[in-house]
Amino acid sequence: MTATDAFAVKPTLVGERVVLRPFRPDDIEAMGPVLADPEVLRLTGSVTTTAEVADADPELDDRTRRWYSSRSAQADRLDLAIIDRASGRCVGEVVLNELRPGQDACNLRILVGPDGRGRGLGTEAVRLVLDHAFATTDLHRISLDVQADNVRARRSYASAGFAVEGLLRDEHVFDGVRSDTVLMAVLRTDREVAAEG
Ligand SMILES: CC(C)(COP(=O)(O)OP(=O)(O)OC[C@H]1O[C@@H](n2cnc3c(N)ncnc32)[C@H](O)[C@@H]1OP(=O)(O)O)[C@@H](O)C(=O)NCCC(=O)NCCS
Repeated sequence: MTATDAFAVKPTLVGERVVLRPFRPDDIEAMGPVLADPEVLRLTGSVTTTAEVADADPELDDRTRRWYSSRSAQADRLDLAIIDRASGRCVGEVVLNELRPGQDACNLRILVGPDGRGRGLGTEAVRLVLDHAFATTDLHRISLDVQADNVRARRSYASAGFAVEGLLRDEHVFDGVRSDTVLMAVLRTDREVAAEG
């Protein structure tokens, strides 16, 4: 499938620890507390001050509900709920977005709430979505950016195959403190080399 049509079909991907699937109504409701989690807010760059973190409401508003309900109709991106197989509950999301069909490239982002973190769920979710993307589309390059001090995310991305490509100095600000952003990417050819080696 060409990268233009890459994400028209929404898969359910089954791993050892997680299932990735298009959002169902229960999954959407579970995203309220996940999106309001202080660590998620800070590390995804959704807020720039502690005061904004304190204001976050774990109850989803209608706009956000509509956003999640409409994800399966978007052919130019893939938004999947991360289901913790141990509990059967949605603990986060993994997204391939910013599709650039002419360049066979897109962006990846992920967030996992407190109930799911630190048990290998995030790393497995990234691996599963990369496997799917490279197996079913012509995508060549998947990239992301991550705050330099987000050690857990950087380790997770590295073990799923992402390589560091650069540093955006002082790109991020939180509570007036500046920090660097790391650029990472994985290429189709990286994975072919890894599979041969
Ligand atoms: C980043 C994130 C997706 C990682 O998923 P996860 O399921 O929590 O992470 P994993 O359990 O798969 O662990 C990933 C790696 O980090 C390590 N790790 C786990 N907890 C850690 C911690 N508190 N500090 C540092 N490293 C940690 C693990 O040992 C593992 O490394 P390894 O593969 O070398 O053993 C998830 O923590 C998350 O969404 N955090 C909040 C939002 C966020 O940071 N999103 C990414 C923005 S770019």
